[in-house]
Amino acid sequence: MPVLSARLSGTPIEKEYLRLEASLGRVEASGHPFDASLYPADVVSKVAREWQLRMVFEHRSSMVFAQLAQQLYEANAPLDMKIVMLRMAQDELRHAGTCADVIRALGGSPEPEAALEVVPLARHGERTAEERALRNVLYTTCLSEMVACARFVATIDVTRDPYLRDVQRALLADEVLHGQFGFHYLAWMQPWLDAHPGERASVERYLVHAFAILESELAPVGPFVSLTGAERALGANDPAAAREIFYATMEGAVVPGLERLGLAADASWRQRRRLA
Ligand SMILES: [Fe+2]
Ligand SMILES: [Fe+2]
Repeated sequence: MPVLSARLSGTPIEKEYLRLEASLGRVEASGHPFDASLYPADVVSKVAREWQLRMVFEHRSSMVFAQLAQQLYEANAPLDMKIVMLRMAQDELRHAGTCADVIRALGGSPEPEAALEVVPLARHGERTAEERALRNVLYTTCLSEMVACARFVATIDVTRDPYLRDVQRALLADEVLHGQFGFHYLAWMQPWLDAHPGERASVERYLVHAFAILESELAPVGPFVSLTGAERALGANDPAAAREIFYATMEGAVVPGLERLGLAADASWRQRRRLA
């Protein structure tokens, strides 16, 4: 298995990257060094391993948004939508870099093993370019990134370590944009959806399937073990909380948000099941 690394090139391109990074960051870098001596060593290593998984996941999200930008080209999306989608692909790569910094601070290896093949983004058979892009925008941003945002907010709420709070806030600041993107895109698509009722119904049918897939990916199933105080203080993954947050986010934010923008998402949510 190859290792994923966030190393820089040492060429002048690196300076250009650092300028870009500084211009895109929404939150100041943390002024708090991480002090591992305050926590049990096994808890620090466990949390470092979680950040290794997060690093791999952020890198994979970048691959998804980079491909989604191509689908926005095919759908003739507005310039700002295409550029911000490319920015989001960059954000996720920058996040992989942030994860590497955190892993290093926690004493872990910032070069986790990871499959580097790009998994092709769904093309949804014979759909039009507009519907294909809309389906994937809805899945990745309105659904998936919204749950990610809610999980970050809940984790920051219990994380007491000042360094880890700061890095989570920096990631969350970008994830908020990622979660909002799809709702703005859907608002922009309203005239097209009004003119294409068949495609609107097809997107609503897709949501029946998409909600079920998302549930299987983001709503962990128990039995759950409750976290220790140190795990909580370091923002360790809490599967029981993640399950609760998933349903609260879908039912309290995502479904009503999609309904307000003219999709019958409530019916799709209630009927959610995997379609072939
Ligand atoms: Fe991210
Ligand atoms: Fe994201």
